[in-house]
Amino acid sequence: MVDALERFARDFKAGTVLFEEGQPGDFMYVVQSGDVEIRRQVGETERVLAIMAPGEFFGEMAILNSRPRSATAVCKTAAKLLVIEGKTFEAMLRARPEIALRIIKSLATRLESANQHVELLLLPTANHRVVQCLRQLAEEQMQLAGAHFSSGTAILVPKGLEDIASRVGLPTHEVAEVIEQLHGSRLVLYAADAGIDGDGFIVPEVGRLLEFLEFLNLKDRFGA
Ligand code: CMP
Repeated sequence: MVDALERFARDFKAGTVLFEEGQPGDFMYVVQSGDVEIRRQVGETERVLAIMAPGEFFGEMAILNSRPRSATAVCKTAAKLLVIEGKTFEAMLRARPEIALRIIKSLATRLESANQHVELLLLPTANHRVVQCLRQLAEEQMQLAGAHFSSGTAILVPKGLEDIASRVGLPTHEVAEVIEQLHGSRLVLYAADAGIDGDGFIVPEVGRLLEFLEFLNLKDRFGA
């Protein structure tokens, strides 16, 4: 897909606002290099919905739905993007089923992650949300590794506090408090505890985290 469309490639500087939420949209974009942040205004705050890396695409929804842009797109770094006009995009989808299939698969993945997000937001307390989010992220890491893990396997979740806060819809300081409590019970370790640089958490035993989640659910049900 990318080779045939090289003629649509354009370079953008870091910080370029490609489009804003609510604007009409006539183009879709495929990332060739760099990162593009997809942001959405939620009440007073702007949330990062996704970071589009090389090989990923965005801006297709306004074209497919004939609706205004559902989010804002900003180049996080300098980026090379394929900028494809709506009618060219539609012609590609009709002519090349493999492209259409790839797009459908990505949309299905986005829907799954939106469902996970809704699932988190429906949970009653900050504890539930953070624990469930760590569980989802740990399971995602297991799937990425493609290996079989037992419930006693330690998993590195390479995400920062802010990322987790935006997934669970809570302020960062509240998430930090919950994680500090989990850390006190050794249900979660900081990556730094294991000498690992950068953001991240370690779930030493996913099984124990699941037990704790069940405990929270029971507590919620029976008010113990
Ligand atoms: P569009 O609505 O044209 O412009 C904003 C784009 O952001 C949208 O198309 C999608 O490509 C992308 N987008 C919107 N919501 C999400 C989401 N939840 N996850 C990932 N990408 C999204």
